[in-house]
Amino acid sequence: MKKRIFSGAQPTGELHIGNYLGALKNWVALQDEYESFYCIVNLHAITLPQDPKILRQKTLDLARIYLAAGVDPEKATIFIQSDVPEHAELTWVLSCQSRMGELERMTQFKDKAKVKFKGEQLTFGGEDVTFGAPSVGFGLLAYPVLMAADILLYQTDLVPIGQDQKQHLELTRDLAERFNRDFGDTFKVPEPFIPPVGAKIMSLQDPAKKMSKSDENLNGSIFLLDDADTITKKIKRAVTDSGTDINFDETRPAIKNLLTIYQLLSAKTADECVEHFAGSGYGDFKGQLAETVVEFLRPFQERIKEYDAPSLDAILKKGAEKARSIASETLQDVYEKTGIK
Ligand code: TYM
Repeated sequence: MKKRIFSGAQPTGELHIGNYLGALKNWVALQDEYESFYCIVNLHAITLPQDPKILRQKTLDLARIYLAAGVDPEKATIFIQSDVPEHAELTWVLSCQSRMGELERMTQFKDKAKVKFKGEQLTFGGEDVTFGAPSVGFGLLAYPVLMAADILLYQTDLVPIGQDQKQHLELTRDLAERFNRDFGDTFKVPEPFIPPVGAKIMSLQDPAKKMSKSDENLNGSIFLLDDADTITKKIKRAVTDSGTDINFDETRPAIKNLLTIYQLLSAKTADECVEHFAGSGYGDFKGQLAETVVEFLRPFQERIKEYDAPSLDAILKKGAEKARSIASETLQDVYEKTGIK
């Protein structure tokens, strides 16, 4: 039997090249070898306020992006999280096994709470987050428990993610181990798959910050749906480091980041990239990088248009049925073990 993969992305904001290189690219690469489940996590999206109409549209757009990226619905299961109610049900059970302290420690919770409430003079953020802070949504704290439920429902072996999700995966493993210890063997304890290159693509405007959907500075991210002109402008405006060499030098993080994007999209080795740009200036390098990104995204953007509403619906319906058949078995087992059924 093939081993199993589960992963997902949130239908919020615009997906960027970091999401692709850190996650989606690997989903595609792994789908032949593994039985794969790729979920559009719309329940995660509402941990921050969303416009309902836009959320509904983005959920379908994200399915198109998975397909355009190369996720093959004949090989992998693509589905919407809310179509499988077991995700929300298992979240409740796992919430009852989760500790306040371990949820409060999650960096993403601390970051999001801080970003959302900056300016209101609440002193959380950094290490100071305390549960019960007046206006932090409870969903933000519960977020990683829902993520754990996503993964554990499918008895997942491997979870391909970017670096920023590693801590959530560790919590997932802790919850699985705790549940197995207290109620008997129930969940497979999953392993992360974090790519050696590309797991943390940085902002083009600040190489100390990861490229992020929620960054207010749109010039920091290359979105998968950006047109050629916008991409070229963003790359031209990208900050660089002092010096002139184009190489993978930790002390020159801006150039390292740009070169990493080039490496992954051109499928060259690190050495080949350095050799290729030996003697080139930043202008030439940025020109070639822009061309590489544009040429990569052009066919991708064409493929997005290939799926009309009925064919997309059919893929998602079939995906949800397959997902449910597995998720419901796990939930039944959990309910029996906990005395709910
Ligand atoms: P999300 O939607 O923020 O991001 C989707 C995937 O993209 C990766 N990623 C990056 N990789 C490299 N460089 C970056 N700058 C970068 N930014 C984001 C993320 O690590 C992620 O793999 N909580 C998850 C969604 C989720 C999930 C799950 C993932 C919910 N349930 C179960 C795996 C398994 C999230 O918000 O991803």
